[in-house]
Amino acid sequence: MSTSDTKVMIEGAMNLETEFLIASLQQPREHMLGSWRFVEGQYHDIPLVIAVTSVGMSNAAAATALGIEQFHPTAIISQGTAGGHDPALKAYDIVLGQQSFDASSYRTAKEKTADWSHMELMGTYAYSPADGTFIPQAVHYPGDSSLLNTAHMVSRIYTRGQVIAGTIASCNTWNRQIERIQYLHDNFNSSCEDMETASAALVCHQYNIPFLGIRILSNTEFNDEDFQPETAQVCQQFVLNVVQHLTL
Ligand code: 5AD
Repeated sequence: MSTSDTKVMIEGAMNLETEFLIASLQQPREHMLGSWRFVEGQYHDIPLVIAVTSVGMSNAAAATALGIEQFHPTAIISQGTAGGHDPALKAYDIVLGQQSFDASSYRTAKEKTADWSHMELMGTYAYSPADGTFIPQAVHYPGDSSLLNTAHMVSRIYTRGQVIAGTIASCNTWNRQIERIQYLHDNFNSSCEDMETASAALVCHQYNIPFLGIRILSNTEFNDEDFQPETAQVCQQFVLNVVQHLTL
């Protein structure tokens, strides 16, 4: 990868999802922007910024926008742990975010007796300077194809599980009901759920910055796997391998 004008920002919500990345940096430099922590440094001569976003959609959006304004990254990766939506996946499998969506952005049917499955995805709105108005955004945010290709290439040397290209459903929700998870998978094709990816993707879309979500399954209901914190480090190592092979 050429290091001249490339700087990748790698985001993770929690310490356990970022500490391996931060420990891998040469010449680490700490920054606080508001209450969000960023650590700049080099990884094998590649300039990186690690953003510790905190958990959740609003935190991810705020940290992404602040990080873009301060560090001007040429690409952003949102990585970390996730819960499984695809019954075929298990802990340590990795989902490359071909697309992500805000799973909390939906309109329900008008009905007296609620059936939670009567819902359609809505997407969000964003200001368009060209139109001078707020316009509806696509429901799905695609992952950058070049980042995806590199991640695919790196997946050939991943030995801990499968790596698939899939759909990441994000919102401030932790679903544990198998019927609901199956519904989301069947109707919206979700491979996994987290609380940050779609939010960071939205901000990157607004700034026109290449973006990819990379999520490792840390828990699944279909396989009755409780949260496994060790997965977080495995994901960070995978992401560092991706960064080393980028040709941005
Ligand atoms: N549902 C939602 N978020 C999850 N995370 C891991 N597993 C899940 C799950 N099943 C991630 C989120 C958030 C933190 C709680 O862990 O992205 O950062």
